[in-house]
Amino acid sequence: MRWGKLLRLKVVSLSIFTALTVLWWGHLALSFTSLRWLAQRQDLYIGTAVQFRPLQRQPMYRQVLAREFNMVTPENAMKFEVVHPERDRYDFTQADAIVQFASDRDLQVRGHTLVWHRQLPSWLTEGEFTPEELKAILRDHIYTVVGHFRDRVSAWDVVNEAFNDDGTLRDTIWLRGIGEEYLELAFRWAREADPTARLFYNNYGGEMAGKKADATYEFIQKLEDRGVPIDGVGLQMHVGLNNVPTAAAVADNMRRFDELGLEVQITEMDVQIQNGTGTESERLQAQAEIYGEMLRVCQVEPNCNTLVMWGFTDAHSWIPSFTGNDDAPLIFDESYRPKPAYYELLEVLSR
Ligand code: G3I
Repeated sequence: MRWGKLLRLKVVSLSIFTALTVLWWGHLALSFTSLRWLAQRQDLYIGTAVQFRPLQRQPMYRQVLAREFNMVTPENAMKFEVVHPERDRYDFTQADAIVQFASDRDLQVRGHTLVWHRQLPSWLTEGEFTPEELKAILRDHIYTVVGHFRDRVSAWDVVNEAFNDDGTLRDTIWLRGIGEEYLELAFRWAREADPTARLFYNNYGGEMAGKKADATYEFIQKLEDRGVPIDGVGLQMHVGLNNVPTAAAVADNMRRFDELGLEVQITEMDVQIQNGTGTESERLQAQAEIYGEMLRVCQVEPNCNTLVMWGFTDAHSWIPSFTGNDDAPLIFDESYRPKPAYYELLEVLSR
C-alpha cells in the first residue's frame, strides 16, 4: 500500500517535472527563433509600424511587438496633425508613449514624417501664409519635433512622397508656398536639430527604376552636389500579389543609390492578397515568397540593413479601409498567429 502511494507520487512529480521542462524549452526555443533574435545576430533591423491605441490597450500587441521586432515606426503618432495641432502648441503624448515603449525594450525608432502633404492640421491648410511665414512654420516644426526626440530617433523620414508617379514634383502646400527650396531646407534643419539621426527621403512606387525612382535619383544627386545632408532613401514597398517589382529590379535600384553613397531601407512593406488568384492558402504562400525575396535582397545588398513592415497583425492594417476590401497583408493574422510569411522571414534570416 505504502509502496503504491510512493510510486504514484513519483509518477506525478515526474510528470510535473517533464511538463515544466517541456514548457521551459518551448519558451527558450521561441525566444531563440524570433525575427528579432535572428536579425540582431546579423546587424539587421526588422521593424513594424506601430499604432498608439492597440499599443495602449492590447497586451498581445505589445508582447508580439517586443518579441519579434527590433525597430518601430509610429504609424501616425508623429505626423504633423498629431504633434502640432495648433500653431503654438505641440502634443507629443502619443509619440512619447511609443518612443518610451521602444526605449524600455531596446527597439530603434524611425521617425515618420516631418514634411508631407497629408495629415496636416486645418490651421495650416486653411491659413494664409507668406513664403517667409511658411518657412518659419516649417523650421519651427522640424526643430521642435526632431529636437524633442534628439538621440532617441535613429532615422527620420524628413520628406515623404514629394514626387508624382510621372517624376514631376508633387503640388503640395510646401511646394506652392515655399518653392522647390523646401526640400533642401527641410534636410538642413533636420540635421541641425539632431546631427546624429540618419535623414531619409521616403517614397512609394519608386522601388525599381522608372519615372518616379529615376526622378528621385536625379534629384538626390543634385541635393548631394549642393551639400544637402541626406543619408538614405526609403522604399516603402506597399505591394500586392499582382503588383510587385522583381527582386532583381529592386536590387539594381538599391545599387545605384549605393553608388551615390546612400543607404536604402524598406520602410513600409505590406503585401495585399485581394487581387491574387488561387485559394487563400496559395495566396498566403505567394505572399510569403514576396516577403522572403525582399528581405533576402536587403540582406544581400550592402547598403540595406532595415526592413520595416507597415504593421504586423492583419487586425490593424490600413489596407482594408483604404481599398474597401477584406485583405490580409501582414505577417500575423488577426489573432496574432504567425502566417506563412512569418515563417518565410524566419527561414531567410536563418540562412
Ligand atoms: O485619428 C482620427 C480619429 O480621431 C477619427 O475618429 C478617425 C475617423 O476616420 O480618423 C482618424 O484618423 C485616421 C488616421 O489614419 C489615424 O487612424 C485617418 O482618418 C486615416 O486617413 C489615417 O490613415 C493613415 C494614412 O497614412 C493617412 O494618410 C493610415 O493609418 C496610415 O497607415 C497611412 O500611412 C501612410 C504613410 O504615412 C506614408 N506612406 C503611405 C502609408 C499608407 O497610406
